[in-house]
Amino acid sequence: MHVSSPSKISALRNSDTIRKQIGNDRPELAVARGPCRLAREHAEDTGLSAGRNLTRQALQPRENRWACLGQRPVIAWFTGLSGAGKSSIAGAVDRALTARGCHTMVLDGDNLRLGLNRDLGFSARDRAENIRRAAETARLMAETGLVTIVSLISPFRAEREAARAIAGDIPFLEIFIDTPLCVCEARDPKGLYDRARAGAIPDFTGISAPYEAPERPDLAIPTQDRSVEESAALLIPELLRLSAPGRA
Ligand code: ADX
Repeated sequence: MHVSSPSKISALRNSDTIRKQIGNDRPELAVARGPCRLAREHAEDTGLSAGRNLTRQALQPRENRWACLGQRPVIAWFTGLSGAGKSSIAGAVDRALTARGCHTMVLDGDNLRLGLNRDLGFSARDRAENIRRAAETARLMAETGLVTIVSLISPFRAEREAARAIAGDIPFLEIFIDTPLCVCEARDPKGLYDRARAGAIPDFTGISAPYEAPERPDLAIPTQDRSVEESAALLIPELLRLSAPGRA
């Protein structure tokens, strides 16, 4: 069983050293570097080049909002193949946290693509923009104090690192829903793998488009011999710990 200890690894990930490496202590670097070349090109092409003639407006301390909610924010970023179980596990985590009085939100790839991201397809460039928008939305939700669960294939390491940089100093856990392609394909809950194999869906992750598995996720959840509830249970204690109001 390959399950990394979330508290140990997230402590490492959120340490000053790691934050400095990825620029989380330098918001201006995150803007300059991230959200990576493909999303930047998208912004330039659509005439939205960032940062010109704009002044960031000061808001009241976010801690006021967090105190009002009685919790602190966390972003749990689920990555994995289509059919890996991301949405099911995200849903189970979400319900369990709500039942314990925690304020949450789930940003699911399919749902985002039906609204906010309805103009995006599945080219590498569109996926990068999809992830950038999801990461910015997650950051906004976290600023309000919510425990925010993001469930996207997010197939590229660079974009997942850009999402972490966008999260800034908000605790960010990369959760790898680790289900092998053959298992996802056998499950095929939406019938998409069948269609992708038949050539009816281009750029399908795992079939005709790449998936870069995380090398050092904060938590890896192999789902093959676990129920959805068992998988969710591996993450829930860490989210409760990080969202506790007394955490320093
Ligand atoms: S991501 O790669 O940009 O992160 P996202 O998670 O938003 O993907 O959307 C994935 C969902 O879109 C899948 O669960 C599936 O239902 C649907 N989908 C449609 N076309 C594709 C495709 N070519 N590759 C992967 N998923 C697809």
